[in-house]
Amino acid sequence: MTNRTISHIIEPNLVIEGAGVLLRRSFGPHVTNKFDPFLLFDHFAFNNPIEGPIRGFPTHPHRGIETVTYMLEGTVRHRDSLGNMGTIAEGDVQWMTSGRGILHEEMPQRSAGGNIYGFQLWVNLPAAQKMGQPRYQEVAADTIPVVEKDGTTIRLVAGEVDGVRGPVTEIAAAPLYMDVKLAPGSQFSTPVPSGHTVLAYVFEGVGEFSGEVVESVSMVVFNDNGDQLEVKTDAGVRFMFIAGAPFKEPIVPYGPFVMNTVEEIQETIRELRNGTFIK
Ligand code: CO
Repeated sequence: MTNRTISHIIEPNLVIEGAGVLLRRSFGPHVTNKFDPFLLFDHFAFNNPIEGPIRGFPTHPHRGIETVTYMLEGTVRHRDSLGNMGTIAEGDVQWMTSGRGILHEEMPQRSAGGNIYGFQLWVNLPAAQKMGQPRYQEVAADTIPVVEKDGTTIRLVAGEVDGVRGPVTEIAAAPLYMDVKLAPGSQFSTPVPSGHTVLAYVFEGVGEFSGEVVESVSMVVFNDNGDQLEVKTDAGVRFMFIAGAPFKEPIVPYGPFVMNTVEEIQETIRELRNGTFIK
């Protein structure tokens, strides 16, 4: 086994999205598609009411992507054009495949302690699935498998670890997405397919990733070669592990839409204007 080495580390930027929501963005959709098949990684982290009221993300469309919301504290109330509504509570995951189109609203709510803490990952869809049926996979916290081994606790959202499969299935990018927590003085390694994009979002503690010290909060981007990820820690560390197969298709992102050509984006905007976006 060869360890994946670090390509570079991204320090998340503070950005304002929706109706004035402050969040930490590691990367967003871009034509260069550097993190193919992943398009965006946002971290909601509000502590104390200093940020004022949380206004959330009022009704907005998506086409051509999947959005994955994982909450650790606080909740997100959601509602969409297909008639779905519900609340993503602490420890829950919502994997939303927009396909050809949905309109939805996402409203974060503080926990009793006043905090909101969670992540949203955007995963691309291959050209052949961009105009498919919208679909939701809602995973309640108590149905997410927990794998514990040698001081490592993994909450597995998608993919397979040690013969355990995550509850989210049939995703084109064959992603491995998990919340990995290492106790002080422990180490962890996991196989990763060579050629898959591999990222680690370190949000608590300090760890040594392939021999390099990484402190929270950082997005670690790994080089393509190597078939294993190795992490060690003295103080303890927690990170979101993200891996997936690149589609290697051109992308044209435009706000909440990610298509393959400028014409497809223009068609999307036309449909929104003339009221035929939702079919
Ligand atoms: Co959205």
